[in-house]
Amino acid sequence: MPRPRSNSNPAYARRPSAGKTGKGRPKGDHRARQPAHEYELEALPGLEEVAATELAGVPLARDIRGLRFWYPGSPERLTRLRAAVAAYRIQSWDVPRPRGLLGHQQLGELVGYVREVVEVGGHRSFRIGAAGKESPTMQRLAEELSAALGLPHDPEEGELLLRLRPSASGQGWDVLARITPRPLSARAWRECNMGGGLNATIAYAMHKLAGQRDEDRIFNPMSGSGTLLIERALLGPYAAMVGVDISEGAVACARTNLRAAGKEVEVAQVNALHTGLPARSFDLVITDLPWGDAIGSHQSNETLYPAFLKEMHRLTSRRGRLCLLTHELRLFERVMREQDDWEAKELFQVYSGGHHPKAYLLHKRG
Ligand SMILES: C[S@@+](CC[C@H](N)C(=O)[O-])C[C@H]1O[C@@H](n2cnc3c(N)ncnc32)[C@H](O)[C@@H]1O
Repeated sequence: MPRPRSNSNPAYARRPSAGKTGKGRPKGDHRARQPAHEYELEALPGLEEVAATELAGVPLARDIRGLRFWYPGSPERLTRLRAAVAAYRIQSWDVPRPRGLLGHQQLGELVGYVREVVEVGGHRSFRIGAAGKESPTMQRLAEELSAALGLPHDPEEGELLLRLRPSASGQGWDVLARITPRPLSARAWRECNMGGGLNATIAYAMHKLAGQRDEDRIFNPMSGSGTLLIERALLGPYAAMVGVDISEGAVACARTNLRAAGKEVEVAQVNALHTGLPARSFDLVITDLPWGDAIGSHQSNETLYPAFLKEMHRLTSRRGRLCLLTHELRLFERVMREQDDWEAKELFQVYSGGHHPKAYLLHKRG
């Protein structure tokens, strides 16, 4: 009879028992006896390395393979990760196809596993994400899980996302259970949404790769709903930070989100090209330029992009950085070729919401 693969990490089990050797954790430290579970993070394509770097800083995470790892600590710590769009607990069953999960023993194990995730995450409904999720097998699985867990099955909006996929080893099936009712990228501070709002994991990645310095004076022109401002404010100290947007609605939206985040950052309704601020006011300018689809137009970007680079050159200190994200790749690369104020390095290209913008880091030439 097929059996689930062991859910206890062999590396964890091999740890010397604390107290006996005088090394490791002291006797009575309950953390040492918590069972480890296996988890996997999901990042936007293009941000996997940023997510892996953040994961490397999670105490107790071990046996890390890409974004998959074993972890004996509280799952709450994983819900505070900022580069991943979602965190899943993962367990594998040695069954040739999903129908094998309906076997008496497998179903009992699956229910126990999902129940543990729900107890921690507080999900109020579930859905299944898998190729062929409308198939009779998946429907049956949904019915069985719903009955056993007392959890409504909502195929469209279910809070607990269960993903089924063949195991990477080629044998068996993985079941991934998202540990939070909403994706991690749906930040609690986002009370106001606007078209063109940036995915918060991209904002986090831009700040991390542009460099996070306590002494930075930061400018976020075209701040929209405030994503870049809030993600930076949550990262830690800086010397000063201000955002501007030409739209009254966007400024109000950013202020609402800043309030929800509990962060005080000034946002003003000002044209970023005419701020009236003195030269070299900032060490880091960071922005998500209009892409010419949801916001602005390709035609207006023809004049906006070169004017923006010129004005930011004036506003930036001698060793200042300009970090920008754009989907106007051909326009941006042409504008860069036609100027000699800045040199640019590509930071990443990310796939998000049907778009594939690139982030660049610019330094002043000479
Ligand atoms: C792509 S959106 C920024 C989205 C933002 N990162 C967010 O997460 O919501 C671009 C923003 O640029 C603003 N904008 C366009 N031209 C501007 C200008 N000349 N000065 C200031 N803001 C401008 C638009 O009003 C819009 O809010």
